[in-house]
Parts: sequence; structure tokens; C-alpha cells
Amino acid sequence: MNSERLRTEICGIKLDNPLILASGILDENGYTMARILREGAAAVVTKSIGSDERTGYMPPVVSPGDGYLLNAIGLTNPGIDNYGEEIAIAREVGKPVIGSIFGKDAEEFSTLAGKMESFGVSALELNLSCPHVKGFGSEIGSDPDAVEEIVNEVKRAVSIPVFAKLSPNVTDIVQIAKAAEAADALVLINTIRGMAIDVFARKPSLTNVYGGLSGRAIKPVGVRLVYEVKKETGRTIIGVGGISCAQDVLEYVMAGSSCVELGTVLMEEGKGIFSKVSTELSILLDQLGFDNISDAVGVAISK
Ligand SMILES: Cc1cc2nc3c(=O)[nH]c(=O)nc-3n(C[C@H](O)[C@H](O)[C@H](O)COP(=O)(O)O)c2cc1C
Repeated sequence: MNSERLRTEICGIKLDNPLILASGILDENGYTMARILREGAAAVVTKSIGSDERTGYMPPVVSPGDGYLLNAIGLTNPGIDNYGEEIAIAREVGKPVIGSIFGKDAEEFSTLAGKMESFGVSALELNLSCPHVKGFGSEIGSDPDAVEEIVNEVKRAVSIPVFAKLSPNVTDIVQIAKAAEAADALVLINTIRGMAIDVFARKPSLTNVYGGLSGRAIKPVGVRLVYEVKKETGRTIIGVGGISCAQDVLEYVMAGSSCVELGTVLMEEGKGIFSKVSTELSILLDQLGFDNISDAVGVAISK
């Protein structure tokens, strides 16, 4: 459903509804992205693409639990020079395609950004939850200086909007949000670091030992971080983390998100989730007296 109530925009990019496919779920391939757009997503974010093809970790790379998923895929991707064709296929639907990239430093991010822009994406999403060359186990997204340098250099390299996707695995999210000041919007949140143990095998469930937690269980963390960043900085935010129904979308919106991304829920409920949530959201907004989704952005923030 694409009612007027749901129509919105993010950094000048028009959206039929506030629901976008999150990076990493059925989006390495142009045809699956096109299918998801036809099934009702307003836009898609691609799988995070790096400079070179990566096969990722050996299985097991996912460990599902009650209300959550733990994954350590290992940034599997075909490499930027093999990815233009996938974008072209997804773009044929006529809806926005947002290119997600990851790299080890500002120079690599800028090169990838330029190539992604040349493929015709509507915006870039910078995946800052990737390994930090300076520290074992830490993420680029936990270093404010690295975040600032990467965002500034990418902004200089391209003319399309740049979204900085922040890691929740930090002590002070507001400090990182401020470091990403040059970004046109912030995306909150990426997965939360976690692990699981297979007690029968007496070892970690994932080959990589540590993984990223996603799914319904992380929603309160995502909502809290969106709220905190919106309240302290007033920035434009795209909310993501554990969304599975219209009420979840509205929670993120009332906490300060202009639109949202859906990820893990697709694995549980399939591609039909976008039209289902859109229909429910339109009804919910009507019941609550909102003429348009944008009127609900940040209304829960205490002044
Ligand atoms: C299997 C899997 C792969 C993911 N791959 C990426 C990725 O390549 N880049 C990225 O920025 N986020 C990636 N994510 C994180 C999601 O985009 C999202 O931020 C996170 O899962 C929280 O949303 P959700 O609970 O709706 O899944 C991945 C998540 C999952 C479950």
C-alpha cells in the first residue's frame, strides 16, 4: 500500500513509504533487490561492498535464537568492480537504490564511493562497523577521528547524499554522531556484538567466535540510541534494528527516525513483510490522527 499518509523523503530522495531494505539481507543480487522493491519496499540498501571479492567465513556463520539472530558472515561480497550490473538490474524498477560500502580507511571508502556513485545509486550508506586496522577486535565506528575523516573525505568525493551507519558498540554514541557531522543522515543501528556457545560441542557456535546480534531482541537498544542522538543533535536519522511490525516502525519514528530499514524480519516473514507493514502503518497513523508519517518524527522526545 502506498497511501499519501506514508509518502515521505530522506535527504531529498522521494519514498513511497518509510520502509527500506536494510543492508545484508537478500541484497547482494540485483534480481532479489528488484523483487523486494516490487513487493513494496520504498528503497533498498545494497549488501556492503568492498574493493575486492570476499567469500567470508566458513560456516556456521549464523546462529538463530528466540527473537534474535547472531551472524558473522565476514563481509561476503563480489567486490565493487563486479557490482555495477546488480545495481543496474535493481534500478530498472525505478525506485531508489542506496549503495552500501565498507573499507579500511578514508581513502578506500572514497574510491568505493566514487565507483558506487558512477553506478547510479541515489545515496551512499557507509558501513562503519568494519574492523579497525589500528585495533584488534574494534570497529572503525568506535573511533571518532576515523569516522570524521572517512565521512569528510567521502563527502568531498561524491555529490549524492551520504548516510553514516553507526555502530552501537560504543560507549558514547552522541560523540560518534557528532564526529559524523558532515553526513547528510545517520543510520542507527548496525548489529550489536555478541556470541553464543554450543554446549554440546563445548565451543562457540560461530566459526568467527563473535557475531552481530540482530532481530526483535535489539529493538529497545536501537530505539534508545535513535532517541539519544535525535535529542542531543537533532540530526536526520534512519532507524534500523528489530523492526517487525507497524508499531515498531512508529516507535522508531517517534524516537526521531525519518524512515526505517527492515532486515532480519525478512528471513522470518519473507518479502511480503513490506506491503503488510505498510498497510498496518497506514491504518495505525490514521487511528492516531497523523495525516503523514513525517508529522510523527520525534514526537516522543521530551523537551
Ligand atoms: C545476515 C546479515 C548480514 C548483514 N550484513 C550487513 C552489511 O553487509 N552491511 C551493513 O551495514 N549491515 C549489515 N547487517 C546489519 C543490518 O543491516 C541491520 O543493521 C541489523 O541487522 C539490525 O536490523 P534488523 O534487526 O532489522 O536485522 C547485516 C545483518 C544480518 C542479519
